[in-house]
Amino acid sequence: MRFVLAAVACLAAPIAVQAQTPDGMAAWSRIYAVASHPRCTNCHVGSSGRPAWDDLGYGRNRLHGMNIVADASRIGAESIPCRACHISAAGENAVPHSAPQIDDAWRLPPVELAWRGKSSAEVCTQLRDPETNDGFDLVGLIDHVRTSAFVNYGFKPGAGRNSAPGSVASLAQDLQTWGDAGMPCEEG
Ligand code: HEC
Ligand code: HEC
Repeated sequence: MRFVLAAVACLAAPIAVQAQTPDGMAAWSRIYAVASHPRCTNCHVGSSGRPAWDDLGYGRNRLHGMNIVADASRIGAESIPCRACHISAAGENAVPHSAPQIDDAWRLPPVELAWRGKSSAEVCTQLRDPETNDGFDLVGLIDHVRTSAFVNYGFKPGAGRNSAPGSVASLAQDLQTWGDAGMPCEEG
């Protein structure tokens, strides 16, 4: 029994120390600055199914115009489909206030990936646990960030839109640093 306890203590200690590394927390703050940016949260809205138009020049806390709802399909199949305006093909998005188009079917993420209005601790806890994360572990997360047309759009949203801070590469690097530090989250 004593041996088991000692072994557990040995295993737990490095993780506890790592979890407090300033690098890991600094990387998380940069990840949260991206994940809480309107270019990401306007889609990552959760169960309401109402995409948002925050930070597009219509004031704070704005939902998508024209009463657009994504519903359970997350692509608006039940009402007006997203593709009626958001064309699935790579585009420059050079015309301000036109519907963004990317090389993927424009849609909302699964409900569990709700980030709009969520605190750093809430997003962090959600993101580090595959159970609440659409099954993504760290490797999957980094791969998603590197390859997703949605994430790429967030950093290159075209004319008239603020981009999320940093780049796809810096976000992938920060996720690696945060993961190596044991995925520390803020308290609360
Ligand atoms: C047009 C809507 C849209 C935008 C904008 C968007 N996402 Fe997503 N996101 C999705 C969808 C849909 C998924 C589900 C996976 C898939 O279908 O590719 C997803 C999944 C994810 C995932 C993996 C699941 C998870 O929670 O671990 C991450 C990470 C992610 N998005 C990050 C971002 C970041 C960072 C931005 C902004 C730079 C962003 N997304 C912008 C639609 C969007
Ligand atoms: C009738 C046309 C139309 C339909 C249908 C439509 N959109 Fe849009 N959407 C737009 C326009 C136009 C904009 C650009 C607003 C702006 O930049 O001022 C936009 C912008 C957005 C944005 C903001 C992007 C950003 O960078 O902040 C999101 C998120 C979004 N739409 C999600 C959806 C989803 C999800 C669907 C389907 C459920 C959908 N839209 C259906 C016209 C449409």
